[in-house]
Amino acid sequence: MKRIVSIFVCLGLLFSAVPGIRAQSDTKNPNARIVINADLGTEVINKHIYGHFSEHLGHCIYEGYWVGEESGIPNTRGIRDDVVEALKASSIPNLRWPGGCFADEYHWMDGIGPRDQRPKMVNTHWGGVTEDNSFGTHEFLDLCEQLNTEPYICGNVGSGTVEEMSKWVEYINFDGVSPMADLRRGNGRDNSWGLTYWGVGNENWGCGGRMRPEFYADQYRRFATYCRNYGDNRLRKIAGGSRYREYNWTEVMMRDVPHNMMWGLSLHYYMKDWRNKGAATEFTEDEYFNTMRMAVNFGDLLDGHIRVMDKYDPREKVALVVDEWGTWWDVEPGTNPGFLYQQNTMRDAFVAALSLNHFNDRCSRIKMANIAQTVNVLQAMILTDEEKMLLTPTYHVFEMYKVHQDAIMLPLDLDSDLTYKRGDKTLPAISASASMDASGTLHVSLVNIDPGKAAEVNIEIRGNKVSAVSGRILTAGELSSHNSFENPELVRPEVFKGTKINKQILSLKIPAKSIIVLEVK
Ligand code: AHR
Repeated sequence: MKRIVSIFVCLGLLFSAVPGIRAQSDTKNPNARIVINADLGTEVINKHIYGHFSEHLGHCIYEGYWVGEESGIPNTRGIRDDVVEALKASSIPNLRWPGGCFADEYHWMDGIGPRDQRPKMVNTHWGGVTEDNSFGTHEFLDLCEQLNTEPYICGNVGSGTVEEMSKWVEYINFDGVSPMADLRRGNGRDNSWGLTYWGVGNENWGCGGRMRPEFYADQYRRFATYCRNYGDNRLRKIAGGSRYREYNWTEVMMRDVPHNMMWGLSLHYYMKDWRNKGAATEFTEDEYFNTMRMAVNFGDLLDGHIRVMDKYDPREKVALVVDEWGTWWDVEPGTNPGFLYQQNTMRDAFVAALSLNHFNDRCSRIKMANIAQTVNVLQAMILTDEEKMLLTPTYHVFEMYKVHQDAIMLPLDLDSDLTYKRGDKTLPAISASASMDASGTLHVSLVNIDPGKAAEVNIEIRGNKVSAVSGRILTAGELSSHNSFENPELVRPEVFKGTKINKQILSLKIPAKSIIVLEVK
């Protein structure tokens, strides 16, 4: 875990007392010094931290992925090819579906069998539109196979039954002869899918049934009991969790649910000012600062839930699963308020980069996270407009950071006197995270949220030889810079060449408002 040491002067004295360190330093007066212990990593950054969430909401599923087999948009069995290619290029590790609030009113049997015979329903949470169930279990699992990603299905506790959930698991995972396995075969799929990640309800304190934590804990025990393992497959069951700083829900779940019944416990966090969400692309620097404050403080909020979990589970058997997180702005003018369609700027990219650094640093407890939501909803990776598609700044952060997936997290010390100030409020300007992959290559992700000041940084690599460094940078002219269908490549990563090597020390200037990922060999 990195430590931010404020008494920089004392460290300077300490460094000068250690022969060689000052002599090696390339930048004489760096604003920040980072020491990375390349030989002290013990924890793996689970690739599932880089996961996604896609709900039956607005144009995420319909139009975002699903265009139907008859569409003129190139597709494979109804799923658009351009979106699949883009997400594969970012190494999407898992996809959570069908909700969200939609999950607790979704009845999976309505979404199987011939499409023209599937019953319709009203999507009461999201715009009151008619859901025709043309995208169901088979289509979702086909999408996951096309993406080469792990499915994570969230079952219905709020308005569903234990029997309904139990049968869904049997339908997906049982290979023998049984009513549900036979039904699946009749619908064209012989082999089970061997699904692992299974959510038992969503936000059950709210849209998932308005339950008290004690009641949900008992419901969880009951529903989870009948989500069976079939063959060699072992379900990883994830309990519906808390939100924000509501630690009591986490406390009750950790206290009242046997830990061997719960692979993970979820948490949701949206960086959203409830009184005034504001526009996605037009915001003041004060609003930007406020969002950065929420993103920086996300680490502290995570630590609060982790402390509760540590109290009941010091051996870290139960994972913290942050299965909804991201920004939430006003919808784009002229779009359906229930569809949560928003643009995505450099501000969103900083939220993504800071959050992923937080997750990496806490990877001994956080094993999965899912940004909300992948296409056309909230903090999306991808926006579509009929046959057109664009990649957002957030997409580029996920693509740049994919090098951390399944790598060993390297502990680092970040000593920085750099703060981003607004009035009498300050935030640390720099955030960093490091890992070493299976080939021994080290990656460092660096973020400078200050829109006006560059940061001179020295990075000392201990415990590993340094011979070459390369990098990529994501930055733009304005904090509000974004990609549009008219200008889809305005914000995109570029090669970053500004790093010097002096023995074990890398020196670089992180430009104002930028995100850099270095590769060190
Ligand atoms: O992501 C949008 C909604 O936010 C989800 O449906 C719900 O779980 C959360 O409140």
